[in-house]
Amino acid sequence: MAKLTAEQLNSLGLQQETLPRHVAIVMDGNGRWAQKRGLPRSFGHRAGTERLREIIRFSSDAGIRSLTLYAFSTENWRRPEEEKSVLFSLLIEYFNSEIDELHENNVRITIFGEKDPFPEKVRAALLRAEDKTRNNTGLRLNIALNYGSRAEILRAVRRCAEKAVELGAYPGDEAFESELYSAGQPELDLMIRTSGEERLSNFLLWQAAYAELYFTPIYWPDFTRDEYIQALREFARRGRRFGGLA
Ligand code: IPE
Ligand code: IPE
Ligand code: MG
Repeated sequence: MAKLTAEQLNSLGLQQETLPRHVAIVMDGNGRWAQKRGLPRSFGHRAGTERLREIIRFSSDAGIRSLTLYAFSTENWRRPEEEKSVLFSLLIEYFNSEIDELHENNVRITIFGEKDPFPEKVRAALLRAEDKTRNNTGLRLNIALNYGSRAEILRAVRRCAEKAVELGAYPGDEAFESELYSAGQPELDLMIRTSGEERLSNFLLWQAAYAELYFTPIYWPDFTRDEYIQALREFARRGRRFGGLA
């Protein structure tokens, strides 16, 4: 992967100064993508994983600092066993085939969510990916798995309460953010959701406080690099005031 120069970014209608530092994506619509083609849902999930490579690569090349991808929510355990097992096999396959290239490109992988409920093989693949890339300094690639924002917030509150007991005092407001999975990463700037649904579905509720929201009807397996660039261009056009004046 080569970092894009300012001119290369300009030729795509983008500018370094107006790129988000942290992007999150709700990768939705795999099932409907498949159904539209008369295929089983699993085909949609497979097609979806094929999009990951170009979106991650472009994020890294453009110099985006953090990319957080929603891959499996705490609510997705409600899916049929068969679908979950397809998703888990794809995860293992994905990590096995991509980890070396991601590592070579200095990408650091972090899992947002508790790994314990996953089958052992999945857990092992996730731990390996985190361990191997722990010291990388390029793109922070966060993969949200068994992730739910409410669970994340409650976990942070619980840990702060434990600290308070230990200290015998309130540990301070900063202690809370330092217990979130996103600790130490840039503020979330842009939240993208594909497939036409316009909701957060328990994703990054705290972090999204001032994020720009971008909804597209495109299903995730059709969300190409060009679609991503369009979202980044739209982000650049937004007037962010954070409660102040323009
Ligand atoms: C997103 O696609 C992938 C996961 C939630 C794992 P969906 O499977 O939700 O696809 P739709 O929304 O049913 O089309
Ligand atoms: C959100 O999509 C979770 C992921 C993309 C992993 P869902 O398809 O599960 O969300 P709902 O059920 O439509 O809100
Ligand atoms: Mg969905």
